[in-house]
Amino acid sequence: MTTGSFPATRFRRTKRTDALRRLVRESTLTVDDLIWPIFIRDGQDDDTPVPSMPGVSRLTLDRAVAAAEDAAALGIPAICLFPYIDTSLKTELCEEAWNPDNLSNRVTRAIKAAVPEIAIMTDVALDPYNINGHDGLVKDGVILNDESVEALVKMTLAQAEAGADIIGPSDMMDGRIGAMRSALETAGHSDVCILSYAAKYASAFYGPFRDAVGASGLLVGDKKTYQMDPGNADEALRLVERDLREGADMVMVKPGMPYLDICRAVSDRFSAPVTAYQVSGEYAMIKGAAERGWIDGDKAMMESLLAFKRAGCDAILTYFACDVARALR
Ligand code: PBG
Repeated sequence: MTTGSFPATRFRRTKRTDALRRLVRESTLTVDDLIWPIFIRDGQDDDTPVPSMPGVSRLTLDRAVAAAEDAAALGIPAICLFPYIDTSLKTELCEEAWNPDNLSNRVTRAIKAAVPEIAIMTDVALDPYNINGHDGLVKDGVILNDESVEALVKMTLAQAEAGADIIGPSDMMDGRIGAMRSALETAGHSDVCILSYAAKYASAFYGPFRDAVGASGLLVGDKKTYQMDPGNADEALRLVERDLREGADMVMVKPGMPYLDICRAVSDRFSAPVTAYQVSGEYAMIKGAAERGWIDGDKAMMESLLAFKRAGCDAILTYFACDVARALR
């Protein structure tokens, strides 16, 4: 790297006009980079706003199909489904998670039929179905790993059967990627992608999401025995390597903004596609501050997402996806 001294080198020369700034910009954000997470609920022709996520609502099946149509029209390549499950369907064994006709699978089929061009990502974790609010099965206060993996595999197969293009295991149990990959191969779903939540931290930034899926009040304890410690970085690389070896096609770093160093480290080290999840708390911070007039919400949105591209990410899950797609037009 060579940088001359003043006045041979003046950094302001390439900053003088918009044209020059565009010419030397190293990273850009495009609509192709976006995955839009949406919350779905039972019922018809209705939506329920999520108070801790201004602008985000839980959508009924018909509204979710309309949302997918809008996203596809904006050019967004993928949508990700998170179900809000009625308390009456939550159990200790989480059986609803692999019901072929559960909400998530019904919505997947409906979107596939109406908007075949958009990729559908589904969530594999037991928390929406679990009376304990945990991502795995719980016995005597302990999260069971191998039993949870068996349940997650059943869930994966039901989602693939419904037509999911990308399976998104967010559960953080050990061994789940390998188990899911081999079950998918055996069941004739060898084309289904797995986007592994490989480096997922035990984070306070998931709060609004837990409100949105109705898991906040139920969660007993925390998720520190399976999600990553925020102090660790080397472990993230080991997790990514393991998940790629087990058959993940893409990997994720989550949350996003507080973990941009991890995004950079993963994209430097691995040639696999890297995604970041700009999580609910990150969204809420930007929205909340913008609502109070403390920051320019639109500019903060674009800047926060460009940062992921600069950090080496190939795609970003963001609740801002439609707003960004519109802003980029
Ligand atoms: C749980 C799951 C969480 C998120 C996605 N899947 C929360 C958690 O781990 O408790 C968070 C997403 C967000 O905050 O936007 N399987």
